[in-house]
Order: sequence, then structure tokens, then C-alpha cells
Amino acid sequence: MKIIRTIDEMKAWSRRTRREGIVLGLVPTMGYLHEGHLRLVRESLNTCDRTVVSIFVNPKQFRPNEDLESYPRNLETDREKLERLGVDVLFAPSEGEMYPEGYKTYVNVEEITDHLCGKSRPGFFRGVTTIVLKLFHIIQPDRAFFGEKDRQQLEVIRKMVRDLNLDVQIAKLPIIREPDGLAMSSRNQYLEADDRKSALALHQALEHARRLVEEGESSARKIRSEVREIIEKQDQARVDYISVCDPEKFEELERIQGEAVVALAVHIGKARLIDNCLIERV
Ligand code: PAJ
Repeated sequence: MKIIRTIDEMKAWSRRTRREGIVLGLVPTMGYLHEGHLRLVRESLNTCDRTVVSIFVNPKQFRPNEDLESYPRNLETDREKLERLGVDVLFAPSEGEMYPEGYKTYVNVEEITDHLCGKSRPGFFRGVTTIVLKLFHIIQPDRAFFGEKDRQQLEVIRKMVRDLNLDVQIAKLPIIREPDGLAMSSRNQYLEADDRKSALALHQALEHARRLVEEGESSARKIRSEVREIIEKQDQARVDYISVCDPEKFEELERIQGEAVVALAVHIGKARLIDNCLIERV
């Protein structure tokens, strides 16, 4: 596996590789890789001729009071995992390489970013779309892989790709969970033993919402309130948002008809965890 640290070298590799007429896959990550990431990598390896994985903890998607400094990092372990899977290139640029002194250009997707994580973390999606667009330009992938764990992020990126006519196909993959249901996340690292137990409430609450809808419940308010009750039974939990929204624009719903997303962000101990599920009322 080749490790590339500079933009010039990454561009040169991509130019050379694309001349071979191959399909190039990209998996953008912030590292500290777990099974959720590796599932995306395997999908790229299975469906593309070459796979690039990027690891870059993107400072532009953290606010000053957030966990940029403490975000877990372990490039050596990540490198071993990717090497074992047969990844072609690990692109791991420095902060100065991606955002040199005086950097001033951002890309912003409007409206869909006004809700959920966009509302509680202003500037977050602007940071995400800016870095993802830069990665697309540098690497020029035919296909890029994202997880439904970050469902709103995925839709924001799809919107950017459509609106800016980018030649990259966005592939989405389902949420990978621990055996007890907790969605895998690099931030699970922050959970103390007690927090880890409380964190199960997120998945349990989503499953409860799914059951309610299967049993015929259509009131979004009822679902939000029962979900909140399950989460707030955990002393350590502090709800950031509980949303029952439409799966494209992420606007809050009153009644569920057809597809809806139930999405949560909850602070537990030092971690802010997110999870979601797609439900359908027929
Ligand atoms: P990161 O949190 O490292 O996630 C990288 C990719 O892995 C994202 O597409 C995310 O949805 C996916 N992923 C994470 N946990 C998952 C799980 N349990 N199941 C399935 N997929 C999962 O998301 C980011 O990084 C950044 O915002 C990034 C897009 C790299 C831009 O900086």
C-alpha cells in the first residue's frame, strides 16, 4: 500500500492511474478505523479497480468548543488495517497541506443543512462539504463511499454532487453496529463503562420508534416523545435533538406517510453520539 502525504503526489498518482481506464474508488474518513469504515473500504475494493482511503481529521468541521484536540487518532494501526485489506493508497495529508496559511474558500449546501446536525453544529456541514469537494478534486474518484450512520451528511454530499455536476457516483452503505446494537463510531472511545451501557438507549429508542410505526402510529410528535422518554431514563444522557423528518430535506414531519427518518443526537459522558433509522409507514 502506498502512503501519500502531499496533494501533488496524490494528483500525480490519480492522473497516472486514471489513464489506465480503471474505476477508482474513494473512502473519505477521519481515521481511528472500525468495522463501519472497513465495510465501506471492502465495498470499494469489491466494486472498483483501485481504492484510495483518505484519513484526515478535518479541523474545519469542528467548532472551537468541540473535540478536535481529543479526537482519537492512530495512523499506524489504521495503516495496518488498510494494508491487510489490500487498499492501494492511503492519503493522509497534514493540516497545512490541506489548509495552507490564508485559506479562504468554502462550499456550502443550503437548506438541508439548516436542520439536525447543521442546526446544533453551525458550520459543521460547510467544513464537511469543503473537505469532501477538495478530496474529490485531488483524487478524482469515479465512486465515493459513505455510511448511513451519517445520513444527513450523505444527503448533503449527494446534493453537492448534483448541484455542482460532479462526476462522482455516491455509494451508501448501511450502519454497522456492535453486537448489542450500538452504532460503531470512533467517538465510542470516549465512553466510560457506565456510559457505554447508557449509550444502548439510542438504538433501543430507534427500535421502539420502528415498532410504533409498524403498529400503525403516524404521529411524529408521539414518536419523538416516546423516544425522548427512553433516552432520558438514562441519567447520563442529555438530548441534543430527536427528529422525525423526511429523508431528503430533513424537515420535521407532523404525520408519517411513506418514508421517514428518525434521527438522534445525544450527549453521553464525554461523547456526542448520533444514530438514525429509516422507517416506512405503508
Ligand atoms: P468518519 O466519521 O471517520 O466517517 C467516515 C465514513 O464512515 C462516513 O461515510 C461515515 O458515515 C462512515 N461510518 C462511520 N461509522 C459507521 C458505521 N457504524 N456504519 C457505517 N458507516 C459508518 O464522516 C466523516 O468521517 C467525515 O465527516 C468525512 C466525510 C471524512 C469528512 O471529513
